[in-house]
Amino acid sequence: MIRSNRGKIKKTAEPPSRRSFLTILWTVLGIAAIGELIAVIITFLKRGKTGKISGKSENLIEAGYADSFPVNSVTANIQGRFYLCRMADGGFLALSSKCTHLGCTVPWEEKEKRFACPCHGSSFDSNGSVITAPAARPLDMFPVHIENNMVKVDTGKRIEREKFLKNQLTYVKKGLS
Ligand code: FES
Repeated sequence: MIRSNRGKIKKTAEPPSRRSFLTILWTVLGIAAIGELIAVIITFLKRGKTGKISGKSENLIEAGYADSFPVNSVTANIQGRFYLCRMADGGFLALSSKCTHLGCTVPWEEKEKRFACPCHGSSFDSNGSVITAPAARPLDMFPVHIENNMVKVDTGKRIEREKFLKNQLTYVKKGLS
């Protein structure tokens, strides 16, 4: 600042070197921000493409080899919070362990051959259908994929059902077991 001969204060211009430094700084920061944004968009688009091609989510859990599950069995998978049920005809069904009434975890009772909720008494059979209310719909299911005899359950795609249908079962392709 410079005081003039009339006593008024005059503002002096910033030194050119400081102004150009700030201009360069803001330009560099702007370019970096745009680059970051482009990288995020590309990553997002790539992830979406991969999902469509494979048709699988990132929550695929390998439950075990198909022939290690006897028919008429229910096997708990603690990590995935599901039960892998193998039906009498060899079909697989992955059932959520979460009760469809208010969400309690339902244990499988081997002796009774049913899932029995400890909270309010709902029970379900081995395909998840309601035996006893208050639950109003079957246990949710997860898609099952069998590749090279390995049973994989996609816990990222919970499916609510109105009732059990045979086409919900997944089978080992003949000649691959
Ligand atoms: Fe299972 Fe209520 S939460 S019966």
